[in-house]
This record gives sequence, structure tokens and C-alpha cells, in this order.
Amino acid sequence: MTRKITVLGSLNADTILHISRLPKQGETMAMNNASTAPGGKGANQAVAAARMGAQTKFVGAVGQDQNGEMMLAALQANVVDSNHVQKLANIGTGSAYILLEEDGNNTILIHGGANQALTVSDAQNASEAIAAADVLVAQFETPLEVTLKAFEIAKQNGVFTILNPAPAKQGIPTELLELTDLIIPNETEAEIITGIAVSDDASMEENARKFRELGVQNLIITVGARGAYYSTINGAGFVPAFKVDAVDTTAAGDTFIGTLASQLELDLSNVIEAIRFSNRASSITVQGPGALPSIPNLEQVKQALASKES
Ligand code: RIB
Ligand code: NA
Repeated sequence: MTRKITVLGSLNADTILHISRLPKQGETMAMNNASTAPGGKGANQAVAAARMGAQTKFVGAVGQDQNGEMMLAALQANVVDSNHVQKLANIGTGSAYILLEEDGNNTILIHGGANQALTVSDAQNASEAIAAADVLVAQFETPLEVTLKAFEIAKQNGVFTILNPAPAKQGIPTELLELTDLIIPNETEAEIITGIAVSDDASMEENARKFRELGVQNLIITVGARGAYYSTINGAGFVPAFKVDAVDTTAAGDTFIGTLASQLELDLSNVIEAIRFSNRASSITVQGPGALPSIPNLEQVKQALASKES
């Protein structure tokens, strides 16, 4: 059976500034290059899920501008249903400015635009798309109250909920955490939420304990090039990443989440296998430029897994 995934989230036009290093305050510095690509955490996660073969729907908003057209075209090209993407007047499509350093690391500035204009009634209007899904995925680049409404609808209908708390914020309402089946922060986001820095195994276990206290039973922390830690109802452990040379790490986390949503058994019985598969997918994303364009498809991940280096 085909996995059905609905993603509530952001659609951003990414401007990628290729630089040798981050500028210092007050410095004027030449860039190596600048380029544009479709992105946004929501869009990247939805496209990852769709490229892995999931039947994917999107709930979000763009402006009536060229960037909006680019984002809608990107969803359509990847067979992501955009019936619940609002085309709002008087507000621009979301955008992101990505400072991409030569080692593949990045620093991102986002401007919410239409993403932040999404309303609770937009979630209500998407009730059917949410209720019909196996999994609902959301991040924090759209308003929190909209995510809360969507998660309520999901849980009333037995839909598995995945929250990627990015960009991180403190004081996430308990209500939302209690409606979350699986939370997937990276190490920075985990620390902002729990106050516990992620370093060794013990600190990750501490994080898991804290997240349980806050109301979420299942946790995966992505730890960049190291891999991912999991702590679920079935146990805990660490799944190492695949070693590759990164050219652009943008959307690595998003690839992980979209892929995982498409591969995870909802009783979490295959969590290790699903993480390994998602790690492999992310390792391909970091080897290509741009966010959404660098996300692999199912065949590419399978081939990479079967190849010798894995
Ligand atoms: O996670 C990567 C994404 O974050 C980029 O595509 C950018 O749009 C920001 O949302
Ligand atoms: Na990339």
C-alpha cells in the first residue's frame, strides 16, 4: 500500500550566496556566486516524501508572484498535490537567504511572507487531506496555531504526527507536544527546547527523558554528519551517518524527515532500518547543490545502499 503523507509547511524561494567564509561585522566581501532554487522546509520534506514514492499532499501558502509560480511548479513536477496551497494577494512568497560556505556548511535567514499568513481556517479547510493521510508532518516556518489545529484534526482521525521543531523555539505549548507522535529536532533545536546540550550518549538520553516529560514519547535527534539518535517506545540507540564529501548541506535534515515519514512503520518497529535509509538519502542531498533540487529519489537511495561504500 502506498504511504499517504500530508505536509503542512513552508514554501520558500532560496537565494544561495556562495561565499568562502562568513563575513565579519562591518566587512564588505565579494561572493563567488549567487543562485536561486526552490526550498523551504515544508516543500523540501514533501518533495523528499514524494520522491520516495509516497502519495503526498501539501498545505501551505504562496504569494501571487514569480516565486510562488516557481514553488507551485516544483510541487507539481514532483507530483505533490497543491490543492491546499493558498495563492494570497498582497503578500510575497516566503524567501530564504542561504550563506553557503565552501565546506558545504550554511547559515540561513528566512522571511516568512505568505507562509506566516496561513490561518487556522486554512487547516480546517484541509481537514479531508489531513484525515485521509497516514502521516502528517509539520515544522515551525508556518504559524504555530495552524499546526496545532492540523495536529488536532490528525489525532482525531488516527493520523500519525511528526513535528520537526525548526527553526527552534522555546515554550512550545504542551498541547502541541502531546499531539505529537514523533518529534525530530537537530541537536541545536533539541537543546533550545530542553535546555540540555547534545554531546554524548548520556546527554541524548537526558534529552529523550525531557521530551517525554514535555509530552512526546518518541524522539529522533539528527546530529549532522554523525548520524541520528533515536529513543522510541521500542528502545533507544544511535544510527551512524554515511561518510561523504558535502558540497551543500541545505535540506539534509528535510530529506531525512520526508524520507523517514515515507519509510517508517507506524508502530515504529523498523526505526533503525528507516533511519539508516533516511541517512543514506540525506548523504545524497549534501552532495548536490540547492535544497529541493538535490533531494534523491527512491531508486537513487536503493542504489547507494547497494553500492560498496555503504
Ligand atoms: O532546511 C532548509 C530550508 O530552510 C531551506 O530550503 C530554506 O528555505 C529554509 O526554509
Ligand atoms: Na544540497
